[in-house]
Amino acid sequence: MFAFLKDLDTDIRDALLAQLRNLWTHTSTAIEGNTLTLGETAFVLEEGLTISGKPLKDHEEVVGHAKAIDFIYDLIGRKSDLAEKDLFDLHKSVQPERVVDVYKPVGAWKIEPNSTVIVSGNDQIIFEYAPPKDVPELMQDWLALFQNTCKEKALNREDTLMAYARLHVSFVSIHPFWDGNGRMARLIANVPVIRAGFPPIIIPKERRQEYIESLSEYHLSVGTVTARSELLPNTDKLGRFIRFCAESWSESIKLVDNARKKQLERKTIERN
Ligand SMILES: Nc1ncnc2c1ncn2[C@@H]1O[C@H](COP(=O)(O)OP(=O)(O)OP(=O)(O)O)[C@@H](O)[C@H]1O
Ligand SMILES: [Mg+2]
Repeated sequence: MFAFLKDLDTDIRDALLAQLRNLWTHTSTAIEGNTLTLGETAFVLEEGLTISGKPLKDHEEVVGHAKAIDFIYDLIGRKSDLAEKDLFDLHKSVQPERVVDVYKPVGAWKIEPNSTVIVSGNDQIIFEYAPPKDVPELMQDWLALFQNTCKEKALNREDTLMAYARLHVSFVSIHPFWDGNGRMARLIANVPVIRAGFPPIIIPKERRQEYIESLSEYHLSVGTVTARSELLPNTDKLGRFIRFCAESWSESIKLVDNARKKQLERKTIERN
């Protein structure tokens, strides 16, 4: 059992896990453009019913993301190393496309280059992610980084934050999939966080702009990652992103604190 769930009665533990699933799924899919509200997301996940007039894709995305969270929880207890196939399975969950497009593979690395526009002052820069031909090699390096991070014993809060930031930033710098990279990064970088006993870091949807800006600042400072460059060339430039993640963490910590308070109240009533 994860340390942040310790000593909670089964009903309170299940309620906390549902709250985390709803918040994580809602914020991460909303950042990407999903139109379901937190309430609608919870309703779809808990009741298995649809929201009238909302796109089918939005429903499929939240169901897929909730499934992906279960996969993340399974990974935490697993002994074997994370493999390419695990990332492909996770990608299939977050990208529930039904129309097959060979240029937009689901459950496989990208085959076409991808880029984003970064606005820096008055300049607009086309920033390219890693070239598709370098992705298999770079992702082997990323998997090695993930493995080494997860092998470290008893991470304190600061180390955990650093581990999350490094895995998140390196994943999105490669941008190994044609789409879904943000949601994938926000899921997989939480494995060492939960393994260290903490609740997941959940990026608030209201802070999307700061999230993108802090990542962009890092991208611009290190340039495009290729098979010939280092995966994390300049971690000194991670400062703003780390501070942003530390602030974002308070959302899930608040939910855990509330569950603990509820548990304490119950114990006090039982004793009297
Ligand atoms: N300048 C940027 N503009 C947009 N995304 C960026 C930028 N810099 C880094 N990113 C990362 O790329 C992600 C978007 O990539 P992609 O569209 O593949 O992911 P997604 O999961 O479909 O969308 P989203 O991350 O928006 O949910 C962002 O969430 C962020 O993690
Ligand atoms: Mg996208």
